[in-house]
Amino acid sequence: MSSAPATTATVLVLNGPNLGRLGSREPDVYGTGSLEDLRGVLEADAAGLAAIDLRQTNDEAELIGWLHEAVDAELPVILNPAAFTHYSYALRDAAALVTKAGLPLLEVHLSNPHAREEFRHTSVISAVATGVIAGLGFGSYRLALAHVLGSYR
Ligand code: DQA
Repeated sequence: MSSAPATTATVLVLNGPNLGRLGSREPDVYGTGSLEDLRGVLEADAAGLAAIDLRQTNDEAELIGWLHEAVDAELPVILNPAAFTHYSYALRDAAALVTKAGLPLLEVHLSNPHAREEFRHTSVISAVATGVIAGLGFGSYRLALAHVLGSYR
C-alpha cells in the first residue's frame, strides 16, 4: 500500500498519445466517450473530495515533466501511458519517481491490452506502478480514482 499524504486537493489524470482522439478513435476498442466526457465522469465521482486535473499529450517529454510535477507537488497520479506503456523506459523511470516518493500511481487502460496484439502484452510501467486496472473503459479510471480517494480518507 502507498503511504499517501492524509489530505489531497488534486488528482492528476494523465493521458498519453492519441487519447485526445477518444470518441472517434477506434470506438469499437475504446468506446464512444470523449476525453471531455471522461473528465465529467471523474469530476462527478470526485465531487466534494478532490479536484480532477485531467491532461493529455502526444509528447513523451511533456508527460515525463508532468510526473516530475506530481512528485514536487505530492499529487497522486492516474496514468494512461497509451502506446508509451509498451516501450518507454524514460516514462517508466519517471513513474518510479512518483511511487518511490510514496505517492500512488495507478496505471490504467481503457482496453485490455492482454487480449490484443502481442506488442501490447508488455508494459514497462506496471512494475513501478502502485496498481494496474485495464479493460473496463472509463471504469478503469473510476476504480483507480476510488482507490486514490479512499487512500486519502
Ligand atoms: C491503451 C492501450 C494501448 O495499447 C494503446 O496504445 C493506447 C490505449 C488503452 O487505454 O487501452 O493508446 O492504453
